[in-house]
Formats: sequence, C-alpha cells, structure tokens
Amino acid sequence: MTDAVDVAPVEVGPVNRRLVLAERPVGAPGLQHFRIETAAIPSPGPGELLLRTEYLSLDPYMRGRMNANAGYAEPVAIGGLMVGQTISQVTASNHPDYAVGDRVVADAGWQDWCLSNGQGLRKLDPALSHPTWALSALGMPGLTAYVGLLDIGQPKPGETVVVAAATGPVGSAVGQIAKLKGCKVIGIAGGEEKCRMAVEQLGFDACVSHHDDELPRLLAEACPDGIDIYFENTGGAAFEAALPLFNNYARMPLCGQVAWANATNLPAGYDLTPRVMRLFLHRRVRLQGFIVTDHYDTRFDAFQTDMTQWLAAGQVKVIEDIIDGLEHAPGALSGMLSGYNLGKLLVRVS
Ligand SMILES: NC(=O)c1ccc[n+]([C@@H]2O[C@H](COP(=O)([O-])OP(=O)(O)OC[C@H]3O[C@@H](n4cnc5c(N)ncnc54)[C@H](OP(=O)(O)O)[C@@H]3O)[C@@H](O)[C@H]2O)c1
Repeated sequence: MTDAVDVAPVEVGPVNRRLVLAERPVGAPGLQHFRIETAAIPSPGPGELLLRTEYLSLDPYMRGRMNANAGYAEPVAIGGLMVGQTISQVTASNHPDYAVGDRVVADAGWQDWCLSNGQGLRKLDPALSHPTWALSALGMPGLTAYVGLLDIGQPKPGETVVVAAATGPVGSAVGQIAKLKGCKVIGIAGGEEKCRMAVEQLGFDACVSHHDDELPRLLAEACPDGIDIYFENTGGAAFEAALPLFNNYARMPLCGQVAWANATNLPAGYDLTPRVMRLFLHRRVRLQGFIVTDHYDTRFDAFQTDMTQWLAAGQVKVIEDIIDGLEHAPGALSGMLSGYNLGKLLVRVS
C-alpha cells in the first residue's frame, strides 16, 4: 500500500483512540473528513466484555457510509465513530460466553477498544491458522463472492467468467471459486503488477488492465467465446468493455460500483442507458443486485464449510495488504478507492 497519509498522531497509551467522521466528503475522502479523539478505556459492566482491536478491515462500503444518504444502511453521523469490522481480543469479560483471550469478529469500528454485550460477535476458532482471514476469504468479502457467483451467477463448467477488482478480496475469491467450478476466468485489474498477481498467484487464465486504453480490445481477445458471467464489482471502464461481449443468457451479479464511489455527478457524455437496456433485452441477460448481509442466515454455514476446505487444500489463496497504525486508516481507505491496495486491506491496530 502506498500513498497513505495520516491524521495527526496522538499519544498511544492507556487511552482509547477513536476515528470519527468530521465532515462529509464531496468527491474523494481526505484527512480533513476525519478527526481523531481520545477517551478513557471503558470498563465492562454486568454482562459486558471489553474488546481490544487487533485488526481493522477497510472496505469500499465505508465511503458510502460517509454520505448523508448512505443507501441501504444508515450513514455515519457527523462526529460519529467510523464503522468497520475488526478482529478483536477479549481483555475483560463479565459475559458467560466469552473468556479473556478469546478472539472475535466484531463491528467495533475505527477505535482501539470497544465495549460489547456479546451481540453480533463471532468467536474465532483458536486453531484458525490465519485469524485475519476471518475478515477476507472466510468473512464478509468471501461470502459476498460465494453468494454472488454461485447463487446468482450459477457458473457451469466451460463458461467464461469476468471479474474486475480482481486481486481484491471479493474479486480474488470470485475468480478462484469460478476456477474450482471449471470456468475460464478473466480478471480486470489496475495495472501490470496486479494482473500478474491474478494470473501467477491466483490462477486466473488471463487478466487485463483497466488503465490500458486498449481495454475493450484486450478483453475481447481474452474472451473469444464471449462472457457468460460478468461479476460486477466496479462499473466504469470495466463494465463498458465487458458489455458488448455478453453472451445470450449471460448473468450479471451486481455486487459493487467502486469506480463511481467518489462520483459527484453522472458521467459526462452520451447516456448509455438505452444501449445497455437494449443489449440486456436482446441477449436475455439476467442482472441481480445483492447485499451480502441478507445472506448470513441462509448461506454462511455452507460457505464456511466450503471455504475452509478450499483454503486448507490451497485451492483458494489469500492476498493481504496490512498497514500498521490506526492513524493510517483514513489515508488507506482513500488509497484503496484509487486502487493502491494489493489484496485485502487491513490495519494492524495493536
Ligand atoms: N454487495 C455487497 O454486499 C458487497 C459486499 C462486499 C463488497 N462489495 C463490493 O465489491 C467490490 C470489491 O470490494 P473489495 O472489498 O474486494 O475491494 P478491493 O478490491 O479491495 O478494493 C477496491 C478496488 O477497486 C478497484 N477500483 C478502484 N477504482 C476503480 C475503477 N475506476 N475501475 C475499476 N476498478 C477500480 C481497485 O482495484 P484495481 O486497482 O484492480 O482497479 C481497488 O483496489 C466493491 O465494489 C465493493 O463495494 C459489495
């Protein structure tokens, strides 16, 4: 990860540092939109436990939560703690189900310490070889890939699957699961290094860069039999290049639009809507948006079983980009939206 910029550092000691939303961004988020505050470390009351944040997950949805109209979820309030999933350790417990030393996945947000009443926590198996995987392949991004590809995309052996943000936690899992299902997998990623990672480390058949002006031609050459599943992670140039290649009965799980995350206006120029709608009609394309939180109750257990096996067998590999220090989180989030991360972006907090 490069290009990380920090909010002013504060003393690290026996205090709780909290990163709050200072101002709503218009366009790309910057340091001025965050503020770091300190408070006393809270003490757990009856039935409560105290969590110390070890790793904070940074995810594209966080940009949406900084807007007044966050969409499918509540926005972060001005002055409110930035939201985020963490791997946290229990350091004190008055809760019968949790003991000191337990590791949990929590929605603790961007802070060092957090009080919890146990609700929404997921205890990690102490035997898990890489606890951070619970925030990537074995966690929210992995489930997103699993549900979007398998339930909505319904891949069949021999089909061609295209996914952008190919080396990120969602895209990398989509591509690797699709390979396990016998598909041909083409990635779209930002630059040569990421494209090489997709092919050499993740086993994609090919990967093309959306920084290349020749993206439409390069993607067409990589997909001589057209596209059967376009897993939509980004929108933007990737979508425009993929669109003409859709086969009849292509499926398009609509997962994310990170290319437009910082957009303040509709893209300039010709309105593509009529062309997109006509193509979807003529080619009988099935488009379905989905939000991963709707699928925990029904799909999380099956996903955990399958993904645990795939990871143990080395059939799915995880690429992580870990930066140190809570104070770097704002710069890292901003960098991720511009593609500076190489794999799942995490902040090591303690
Ligand atoms: N629907 C859901 O429930 C759900 C759940 C989780 C995630 N998501 C979505 O899934 C997508 C991937 O998430 P992730 O966590 O795996 O993120 P990620 O890949 O770790 O990070 C975002 C990536 O987006 C790519 N990107 C940025 N601007 C782009 C552009 N203009 N064109 C193409 N790519 C661009 C960059 O990769 P490159 O440098 O390779 O371009 C960047 O690294 C996001 O859209 C996210 O919002 C949806």
